Amino acid sequence: MLSMDVMPDMSFCEHDHQIGLEMELVSGSSAKTRIPSTATQREKKLGYQELVDKQGNWNTKNKIFNGLADLELLDAICAQPDRHDDNFFIDYKTGRVVGIDNDTCLYPFRDIIAPSADNKYAEWRKGCRVGYPRLMTSKSYDRLQKLDAELLCESLPACFGLTVKNALKERIILIQQHSRALFCGGRIVDDWQTWRDPTTKEPATMFLTLSMEDIVKKERMALKEEAIRIQPLLSKYNSNEKLSDSESSIVRGYMLRNKLLSNDEVNQRHAISRSYFSTAIF
Ligand SMILES: Nc1ncnc2c1ncn2[C@@H]1O[C@H](COP(=O)(O)OP(=O)(O)O)[C@@H](O)[C@H]1O
Ligand SMILES: [Mg+2]
Repeated sequence: MLSMDVMPDMSFCEHDHQIGLEMELVSGSSAKTRIPSTATQREKKLGYQELVDKQGNWNTKNKIFNGLADLELLDAICAQPDRHDDNFFIDYKTGRVVGIDNDTCLYPFRDIIAPSADNKYAEWRKGCRVGYPRLMTSKSYDRLQKLDAELLCESLPACFGLTVKNALKERIILIQQHSRALFCGGRIVDDWQTWRDPTTKEPATMFLTLSMEDIVKKERMALKEEAIRIQPLLSKYNSNEKLSDSESSIVRGYMLRNKLLSNDEVNQRHAISRSYFSTAIF
């Protein structure tokens, strides 16, 4: 989907008169892999060095970050409830990120964050635990704008029922709205090395590991200041007075940033995983 490269090659096959799934053996190591760290005398996730250190090859890092962002986006769309760090692989040589163990995807939940279907394993079976992606690559953002949710759902095989198809369609629409809010908040990323969050001023490696609480607090403050600055425009808008094109675009930007704040608040309340990056980095 969206021309991402985060799924293993797969096809249906027949073995001993049984239908099964044939899958590429993914290279690299699972994000759970730990290595001893001489600096701290403690074990660290394998990715720590490659992703967090200031030195290093940003070509590969950029690829890994793109892959993690795409996997997070795809999982949000497909309501993947089972993406713990043993279920995705990172190849630190090529930078490719691949998600395995995808059989619990496409839950018929409408929301990105859904209540648990299974109280016993509530912690990790809380519907889709991904949340709204914090950041998005510019490539996936562009493709997402062109994605026709209706057409995609119609093209799914007949084994997917109407409830699943409708839920998928609604999730795509929610994520498309979210992506426009991300765009307005300056959270579409071209280059992970140079990107800075406009609100917190943090670089990607810091921003991705901030708590959602911190982000929400700073966003609320920035939006309050913005509301004071554009008060005359907001009054005009609220009293249905005609706005010029540039005035409308300022008000629209403000509304979308409010939407971003409200999605971040949803994440803060419900998402279990801070972000895929923190799973991989720490
Ligand atoms: N396509 C794959 N490429 C490489 N290793 C895989 C692949 N699929 C599964 N594995 C390995 O097998 C383990 C178990 O597979 P998984 O599909 O995650 O099943 P389970 O439902 O038991 O978690 C994984 O943690 C991983 O180490
Ligand atoms: Mg697994």
